[in-house]
This record gives sequence, C-alpha cells and structure tokens, in this order.
Amino acid sequence: MLTVVDHPLVRTALTRLRDKRTPTHQFRVLVEEVSLLMAYEVTRDLPVKAHRVQTPLAASRGWALKRDVVLVPVLRAGLGMLPGFQAVLPDATVAVIGLKRDEITLATHTYLTKIPDDLSGTDVILLDPMLATGGSASTAIALLRARHAKKVRVASIVAAPPGVERVLEAHPGTRIFTAALDARLNRSGFIVPGLGDAGDRVFGV
Ligand code: PRP
Repeated sequence: MLTVVDHPLVRTALTRLRDKRTPTHQFRVLVEEVSLLMAYEVTRDLPVKAHRVQTPLAASRGWALKRDVVLVPVLRAGLGMLPGFQAVLPDATVAVIGLKRDEITLATHTYLTKIPDDLSGTDVILLDPMLATGGSASTAIALLRARHAKKVRVASIVAAPPGVERVLEAHPGTRIFTAALDARLNRSGFIVPGLGDAGDRVFGV
C-alpha cells in the first residue's frame, strides 16, 4: 500500500528540495519536477478502455483512460504539486481542500472544500507534499469518501512512518506514494530530516 518512488531523477531533485539553501523559485520548480516524475508511478495502474483511432494511414486499436481523474491539491502546499500532475493529466478535474494544521495541537482544521458531489466512477489523486502525523491526509480522504470516492491515491513527497500508519489504519485500501519515507517526526510534528515547511517554501512566506 506504500510505494516509495526512488527513480534517480526523483532522488536527486528531492535532495535539492531538502537543501535549506534552495530558494523559493527553485523549490517550486523542483516540486513540480518531482510531481511530474511521480505522476508516472501514481497513475501506473489506472484502468483503461479500448479506444479506436484513425491514423493518417489506417484504423488502429488504442486506449483511453476508463474513468475521469480528479486531482485534489490540499491547500496550500499541495498546490505546488498540481502543475506536475496536470502536465500528464491535462483533462483531469481539480477539486480543492483547504486544511490547516494547528501548530500546537497538530489537529487538522478544514477551512475550504470545493469537491464535486459524486466522485463515484472517478479516480481520485490527493496531492500534499508532506505526510507527517497523517491527520491532514486522513481528514481529506474522509471528505472525499463522503462524496463517494472509492479508492484514493495519495501522492506525497516526504512521508513519516506515523503518518503512513494513521492513513492506512483510518482508510484501508488507500495507496500512498512518496519520494521518501523519512525517519521520524520531531516534537513539533515536523518530518525529520524532511525539507522544512513545504507550504512556506513553495510560497516564500
Ligand atoms: C502541512 C502540510 C500538510 C500537513 C501535514 O500543512 O502541507 O498539509 O501540514 O501534516 P499532518 O500530516 O501532520 O497533518 P499546513 O497545515 O502547515 O498548511 P500549509 O500547507 O498551508 O502550510
């Protein structure tokens, strides 16, 4: 249920993301780059249906995605991953969930949901670069399941073991993809070694 995407280009880009000297504009580009590379793995088992096309020379058998794909960036940091996924899924619908983690209690506060009413019959991909305690991802998946999403794929860039466990416990069957499974969380709930606060680094705040 957990896939660590360890492609060499992902690993090298992630190293630059971890580097505290990487400035905002490069950080944003790197998040997009890693997301695009990860999208290949995250979408690997999307179901397809037969789709015939006419080439300039002849009719040919081909394929189309069976179901609509819904990309769900978790505000704010998830927005940084959206362009990479949209590059390979240009027809995907975008739904948005706004979550804020309380800095003291680490509890998740939902401040925005803009999700289609019925997600049955779609393939849903949740985008959030950090999977720390797993509170945000679990809350987001619950909101998606309340709209009848069947199986949710979670695309993160850095994950910590407690977050992975929490999500899989709360939502068995969820597929989690990450570029790295880091060692631990510190007392403030930050992933160590991690890459800092992804939202702040994407938006330069
Ligand atoms: C960060 C991060 C995740 C969440 C992960 O967001 O982007 O959404 O925390 O932590 P968790 O797994 O312990 O819930 P934050 O609440 O800081 O908001 P931001 O993206 O707006 O910075």
